[in-house]
Amino acid sequence: MSELAAKAGALDAADELAGVRKRFVLDTVSDHAADAAGVYLDGNSLGALPANVPERVEDVVRRQWGELRIRSWDESGWWTAPERIGDRIAPLVGAAPGQIVVGDSTSVNVFKALVAAVRMVGDDRDEILVDATTFPTDGYIAESAARMTGRTLRPVTPGEVPGALGDRTAAVLLNHVDYRTGRLYDLPSLTAAVHAAGAIAVWDLCHSAGALPVGLDEHGVDLAVGCTYKYLNGGPGSPAYLYVRSDLQDRFDSPLPGWNSHAEPFGMRSDFEPASGALRGRVGTPDILSMLALEAALEVWDGVSIEAVRAKSLALTDFFLECVAAYVGEGRVESVTPAVHAERGSQVALRCEDAGDVMKALIERGVVGDFRHPDVLRFGFTPLYVGFADVERAARVLAEVLR
Ligand SMILES: Cc1ncc(COP(=O)(O)O)c(C=O)c1O
Repeated sequence: MSELAAKAGALDAADELAGVRKRFVLDTVSDHAADAAGVYLDGNSLGALPANVPERVEDVVRRQWGELRIRSWDESGWWTAPERIGDRIAPLVGAAPGQIVVGDSTSVNVFKALVAAVRMVGDDRDEILVDATTFPTDGYIAESAARMTGRTLRPVTPGEVPGALGDRTAAVLLNHVDYRTGRLYDLPSLTAAVHAAGAIAVWDLCHSAGALPVGLDEHGVDLAVGCTYKYLNGGPGSPAYLYVRSDLQDRFDSPLPGWNSHAEPFGMRSDFEPASGALRGRVGTPDILSMLALEAALEVWDGVSIEAVRAKSLALTDFFLECVAAYVGEGRVESVTPAVHAERGSQVALRCEDAGDVMKALIERGVVGDFRHPDVLRFGFTPLYVGFADVERAARVLAEVLR
């Protein structure tokens, strides 16, 4: 056994989260994987299936829908699911209850948050700043939100934000972790800078929620959005969430006021009167099947602290970088993920020639990461189910493919 394989064994033996892996379905591999067991390093794109989800979904479909039918809106807690599940996500992102509502996609929530942010500040603030390196959907939505609210959109890198802020800034849309490089941005200091300029900070937590502590309340974040299908394992297309800080909720003027965010949804009134609290962020009928699959998926977090997840995440990415340095030939890959812990999310992105073909070859050998245009191999490390032996194996297979 190689020295690194032995080290992986020791790290796995000491891993306090090792038992959580059993809460997931991981023993099936894709048909073309050459080896018996795969290594799944794509939980930053689609989290693995929690083992309790299929049975729960079956109950929701067969009993709640099939037998109780319309009664389930009340008796099975369907109507209140968006706020209830929001409260289950809240501790994972450092929010007190009553500030998160689940529903719609991240894109739609970015729209709600950004337009509402602009509406909270004065008309003299005519500029929106957006992360120039953002996941594209945020940029597209920000452009449309700016056009609709009569503001100018100014793309800047997160590092340029402090210098770009001023009296004109209405809102700033930032990513906590860059989807391509895995770089973690300094949410506390950027939020403080946005506030010092009198503007509203909107954070996209897609790549940080469930992977590291976010501290929304602690750092005074105004508005935040995120998806639930990555590190929260909610399933393909599971609904996103919207955080509105409690003291801003009365001023949250949604650009998508629907009957679900009405103070009296069953009053069927023609005038709109917004509900109070987080449910002001709701729009229309929630997608119950996906939402309740997510609720079941969140049970894997029982007894798991986000601090323990962060500690293991850093240990996993450190170990992966160590194995890659040891196994992969000099100059074949270059990490674009920061080496400094304070700037690293839960993924490692390696720039590599022919990255698309290399990823295909890795997947054929059972190591599943993904490729991001034009030359990035992305490996996501979900501490709830990725172990150190997986990491060593992934690096070893990568070296074989590149040889
Ligand atoms: C940072 C970020 N924002 C938004 C999205 C996607 O948004 P939606 O859930 O609307 O597809 C992603 C998807 O990977 C993302 O990485």
